[in-house]
Amino acid sequence: MILAYFNGEFVEPNESVVPIDERGHQFGDGVYEVIRIYDGKPFMMDEHLDRLYQSADAIKLRIDPNREAFKNSMLELVQRSGLTNLDLYVQVTRGMAPRNHLFPECPVSVSMTAKPFQIIPVGDKGASVILHPDERWANCYIKSLNLLPNILAKQVAYEKGYLEAILVRDGKVTEGTSSNAYIVKDSSIITTPLSKHILSGITRMAVKNLAELLRIPFVEKQFTPDEMIIADEVFITSTTLEITPIIRVDDKQINDGTPGPVTKALKEQFKQII
Ligand code: PDD
Repeated sequence: MILAYFNGEFVEPNESVVPIDERGHQFGDGVYEVIRIYDGKPFMMDEHLDRLYQSADAIKLRIDPNREAFKNSMLELVQRSGLTNLDLYVQVTRGMAPRNHLFPECPVSVSMTAKPFQIIPVGDKGASVILHPDERWANCYIKSLNLLPNILAKQVAYEKGYLEAILVRDGKVTEGTSSNAYIVKDSSIITTPLSKHILSGITRMAVKNLAELLRIPFVEKQFTPDEMIIADEVFITSTTLEITPIIRVDDKQINDGTPGPVTKALKEQFKQII
């Protein structure tokens, strides 16, 4: 069943537990992770936890230094939910205090949900994306709750019938609104290098390892929207989209409009490791 957690209590997902003066919904003052659990086994959970602590550090937010206890509360939610294939959402905010921009002196708030995941049906035949200006701030490596530019761009894509918006900053592709972006050219995978302008995706890390296993060059360099359109293959990755082939960018078909061999090989290997 769908189950939630707020500051030590296991609650029904629709129960009202968060007070008005909570910095998550007043300021978006917090960080989050989405972790997928396959057959009861969390996928790359330690990497997700590392990133959560790094995001928290970057905004001067102190998560429980007892990482094992924190991890155990996540695993307890998973276990209590009775679900075996699920997405675990974890959010940590600067806590509950009368609204004031300055940091409060109070404990952080932790909220979590455990929900069954749905396989996105586009996965095998491929999906379409639009290009959209990257209107986010300078610190996109922080997995912050502030997702307004991301949701606005994703909504534009959705209303046009596309799956995702691929963001473009200074003439170069950064990433998707909730995914990392890749092109394949001459049998090499090319993806935007890690910087403050993109999130260091956990699935990106997995793809890098799989590329090494498959002996496919994994090149971290910037690329332009034009290079994307003339690429041999395009794909995006995230915890929830896994590896999703892209067969159309705006109104341009990529290659022959079907998922290419490199994307297919990666997807096949990915299936093995999950
Ligand atoms: N988003 N880039 C952005 C901006 C993201 O929000 C995400 C993930 C990724 C991919 O990261 P990972 O492979 O670790 O999931 C890249 C999650 C799934 C979300 O916001 O729902």
